[in-house]
Amino acid sequence: MVRRRLPRWSEFEPLLRPERIPLNPTERRLSRVHTIPDLRKIAARRVPRAVFDYTDGAAEREISLRRARNAFTRVEFHPQALHDVSNPDTSTTVFGERWALPFALAPTGFTRMMHHEGELAAARAAQQAGVTFSLSTMGTASIEEVAAVAPDADKWFQLYVWKDRAAGKDLLERARTAGYKALLLTVDTPVGGARMRDVRNGLTVPPALTPATVLDAAIHPAWWFNLLTTEPLSFASLHEWRGTVAELVNTMFDPTVTFADIEWLRAAWPGPLLLKGIQTVADARAAVDHGADGIVISTHGGRQLDRAVAPLEVLPRIADAVAALALGARACLVGRAFLYGLMAGGERGVGQAISILGEEIARTLQLLGVRSIGELNRSHVSLR
Ligand SMILES: Cc1cc2nc3c(=O)[nH]c(=O)nc-3n(C[C@H](O)[C@H](O)[C@H](O)COP(=O)(O)O)c2cc1C
Repeated sequence: MVRRRLPRWSEFEPLLRPERIPLNPTERRLSRVHTIPDLRKIAARRVPRAVFDYTDGAAEREISLRRARNAFTRVEFHPQALHDVSNPDTSTTVFGERWALPFALAPTGFTRMMHHEGELAAARAAQQAGVTFSLSTMGTASIEEVAAVAPDADKWFQLYVWKDRAAGKDLLERARTAGYKALLLTVDTPVGGARMRDVRNGLTVPPALTPATVLDAAIHPAWWFNLLTTEPLSFASLHEWRGTVAELVNTMFDPTVTFADIEWLRAAWPGPLLLKGIQTVADARAAVDHGADGIVISTHGGRQLDRAVAPLEVLPRIADAVAALALGARACLVGRAFLYGLMAGGERGVGQAISILGEEIARTLQLLGVRSIGELNRSHVSLR
């Protein structure tokens, strides 16, 4: 038989910890976020369905995207016990620049559709965190605007080679003058991938006012208010566009681009040149042979050729062929993770995405028994 009594106030009081509820609504939303999937959930509520799907989705049946994510469930860590890991160092050096974290924000198009401050918000958050920001040719802020709001950030520019080569050269000149350090040439986009969610949603840029979008405005009034009361969407590099994403891609991009184009680009760009979208050992070798300083193994987040390889799975083979950290990469590009943050809470949301990833990296280093990124090698990780 348990004997019960009434608790005294003095015993009860220390258990009552009133939660501080932030007054700022964005801060309040973000205070409940602990992981990238938490940010994704909020993002899905904050923006119109077609915008969320454009960001979240991939090509055709999205098999590449699912396989790429599943590959990360195959990662198996092999921690080393009993090392002093009191001060984990998450920094790494890429082309002579010291990066606070071993990732950069990936170039993404139409970013102002996700949040009205778009690239400017992301670039400011990147600068604050000491993370490199990449601006896309299809970005919705100009080369110079991004440089002006994030003068101290390490910035990269991403180029799609256009049918009009002279216009491409012009962009390189502007990026160089504005202090962008490296050039990413995306090579997985001879034509646009078939993004079925966009097709079904009838996504256009900017979103057209149709009965469906007008209805949506009732559900996402803040997003629509911000879209309509800020500068109309225009691009880093192109003139205004009205039409679907697929139409834009297929008008702008040049399916005749070959490795021979790397040579004129190499001559036109004095800084580091990386080919983004390499997926085979042979292409990695060819990239190096044609004077590229680096490659990004990527399937464009599964948004181009569906059933393309899972980057993590081909990484060790490619790293063996052309250079090596752990399974092989020196650093990586992060796309959707920061975009979920942007949709969930603008600049603060991007900052939160970066700090979630940063904390995960620091804790993983510590639990692996490793003090710094540079100490990582293949003894720490394998694929099951
Ligand atoms: C919404 C969105 C737009 C993108 N736009 C571009 C682009 O304009 N140029 C480019 O080279 N890659 C683009 N990408 C691909 C990213 O740079 C990156 O390769 C990809 O997002 C990485 O996968 P993750 O989103 O799972 O991190 C885009 C990706 C997303 C999600």
